[in-house]
This record gives sequence, structure tokens and C-alpha cells, in this order.
Amino acid sequence: MEKKVLPYTYEFDINELDAIRACNEDHGFAVVKGLINEEMVEELKADVRRVLEPTCNPAPGATNVALTFIEESPVMARLLTYEPFMQIARHLNYNKPMTLLRSAAIYKKPEAPPMVWHTDWAPREHPYTVDSFLNNLGGSSMWFYLNGTHPDRAGLAIIPDSHTADWPGPVGFAFMDRRKFFYRKGTEPTPSMELDFPEVLPLYTDPGDLIIFAEKTYHAVFPHNGSEVRLSCGTGFHSTNTASLEIWPKPDSTRRFIDSCPPEVRPLVEDYTGIDMKWVQDYNQRSAGGTR
Ligand SMILES: [Fe+2]
Repeated sequence: MEKKVLPYTYEFDINELDAIRACNEDHGFAVVKGLINEEMVEELKADVRRVLEPTCNPAPGATNVALTFIEESPVMARLLTYEPFMQIARHLNYNKPMTLLRSAAIYKKPEAPPMVWHTDWAPREHPYTVDSFLNNLGGSSMWFYLNGTHPDRAGLAIIPDSHTADWPGPVGFAFMDRRKFFYRKGTEPTPSMELDFPEVLPLYTDPGDLIIFAEKTYHAVFPHNGSEVRLSCGTGFHSTNTASLEIWPKPDSTRRFIDSCPPEVRPLVEDYTGIDMKWVQDYNQRSAGGTR
């Protein structure tokens, strides 16, 4: 698959702050080249492995996900004091007070199947999901694909300009499940995993690059036909003045993480909610059989 040429630049150097933000706002994504060095890449890879390898299903093609990775990874937490990263995060947020939103890591083995097209955003309507709260605050995702990303080996694909509420969807497709997914018209309404239609942009990045995408941007993942486990981790922030949600009491792991942060990081984490996995389970059980 050839790298697509777009009529605008979407790959930037680390100090092109205005251009990075403008591209993310205008087109729903941006790539920052060489944000972290090889040593940081290796440290993050080691931490993703440490957290996720032991509990990963032994079957080929399995994927394991950590939903509060920063709480378990001191290396990831150090990014909160890594100025080249934080200046981008602050600029995306117009240098207003901001709060850590969430973080995750993914461990994906060779032979993993593709991931369907979806948006991480969810409406604040029943049935609620964790995403209905956390991915509805305007925060962009900031991801490191630590092996680089490539369509041959579980690479990320996105749809440029799909990040607005009135985006009509790709030509020939219709939305389903409150716009979470789309399917090709005239076929069974199951989330599409087609990866070759005109709107698709397969991304090609190197291990130290940062991939930013907006809250609503649609993305999918190619099948993993490579030989290395794909390791990735990401985080995001949102404006503190939208953080008045007291959704669940802070889990113990979240409190411990906040307490472990140095004083200069406190303003970023004191309103951080973490994720209460029990709330996720209970709420899904309640809403599964309940009224909508
Ligand atoms: Fe996603």
C-alpha cells in the first residue's frame, strides 16, 4: 500500500505548535515527528510489556489493553514532566488549565485481526459507557506507536476530516449504534472493517513519533501481518473547567498515582478521575437489560 499524498501537511516538527493544533482542529489529526528518543521508546516498550504481557491471552493474534496505564507505568507518568510533550498538550488546550483525562496501552500480537472503524467519542445518553463521560470533554488523543505504524503490521488508519458532528460518513456507508460505527449500505449492518476506500488514510510513522487525533476522528487498525508484538500507549488531557464530573469515587490505584506525582504535576492530576472498572461492569449490566 502506497503512502497517500494529501493536499496539506500533516507531519510536523516538535516546535511547530500552531501548525500541529491547526491541523488537528481542521482535519482531526496530526503527526509530530521524533518527539521522543530511542531510549524513551525502549523504556515505554518495556513498561507496556511488563504491564500487559503476563495477562495476555497466549493465543496468537491476541490483544491486551490497559485502561489506566499511566497509573501503572512510571515511565508514562514521566511524560507529564517531559516538556516537548507537555508543550504540545498545553498548546492543543490553548494553554488553559488542564487535567489528565485518561491513558491506555495496547499489546497486540502478530496475526491480530483488523479493528473495525469506530470513533472513541460516545454521546452522553443512555446506555452510558465510560466513553460517554471521558470521551465527551473535548480532549484529543496523543498516542505513541512504539514500533512505528505501518499498514502491514497492525498500523493505524484514520479518516481525515471525520472529526465533526456533522460529518456525513464515507460515501456508500451509513452510521450505526449512535454513530459509533458505520457499515456499507446494502450489506448487513455490522461495523465496517474495510480498509481500502477513498477516504482512508493509512498512517506511516517511526517509533518516536506522536500521533494526535481529535475526540471524534474515526479510526481503524490493519491486520497484524508482521512478526513483532505491536506496542502502543497514549494519553490525553481536557480543560479543567469541564472537569466538574464526580462520576465514581477515585479508585485506590488512582489515589496512589496522584499521591505519587511530584508537586509540579499536581495541577494536572488532582481532578483526574481514573476509571472504576467495577462501575463499568455494573453500569453495563444495569443498562444491558434496562430501558433505554
Ligand atoms: Fe479507538
